[in-house]
Amino acid sequence: MAPAHVAIIMDGNGRWAQSRKRPRLFGHIRGTKRVREIVQYAGELGIKYLTLYAFSEENWGRPTQEVSVLMKLLEKYLVRERATLMKNNVRLFSIGDRSKLPDGPRRALEKTMSLTSHNTGLQLTFALSYGSRQEIVRAINKLRETKQGVISEDELAQALDTSEMPDPDLIIRTSGEHRLSNFLLWQGAYSEFYVTETLWPDFTKEELDLALNNYSQRERRFGLTSQQVSSEANVQ
Ligand code: FPP
Repeated sequence: MAPAHVAIIMDGNGRWAQSRKRPRLFGHIRGTKRVREIVQYAGELGIKYLTLYAFSEENWGRPTQEVSVLMKLLEKYLVRERATLMKNNVRLFSIGDRSKLPDGPRRALEKTMSLTSHNTGLQLTFALSYGSRQEIVRAINKLRETKQGVISEDELAQALDTSEMPDPDLIIRTSGEHRLSNFLLWQGAYSEFYVTETLWPDFTKEELDLALNNYSQRERRFGLTSQQVSSEANVQ
């Protein structure tokens, strides 16, 4: 079955640029181009949710100049892509602590989210100033304001930034690292994981096809046995 929700840890922009003896900025620019292509293609494929790890909570610790370049690229993308997102019926959403973003990208993000809020095609979510542990702690503190006593799994899931979307079926990581890096720790409990050596600036549509093809051969058991899963599938 095709995944409804694909999440991607876009990694390797810096290495891509360095291997070409270019500044890291060059890798981020090429990485933005790939974001455009993959968003378009995911929509064409009928994927319902695409979540991209664009800037982690920990990324604030990078050199000021690199943070500023990434914020500018983000703002540019959010302004320039508005018409295309509208044309392609894409709804933009974000997870993470967006109050930490500088005014420019934060306003651009809010404006693009509100403009696209009624679109019914692909939901594109940018994880921005996002850290999964921080998100979980924020959710618990939010619940504590209104609730006393034991918190259920459902209640916690509903208090997370992702409350409006299903858990990711497939998490892709580029550039060969086998880590989650504080991304969707709760939501990824049963996600399938796909790692490719390809660096994000080289992640083409064909690379997404490979990942989806690999996913289609997996058997998702959610802690059950193979037999149970196939008898459940027969019932449906
Ligand atoms: C990882 O590469 C990538 C990032 C930290 C940022 C991802 C950003 C983009 C793809 C461009 C801007 C995004 C949008 C949404 C317009 P890295 O720098 O960690 O690579 P390295 O591990 O090779 O150093």
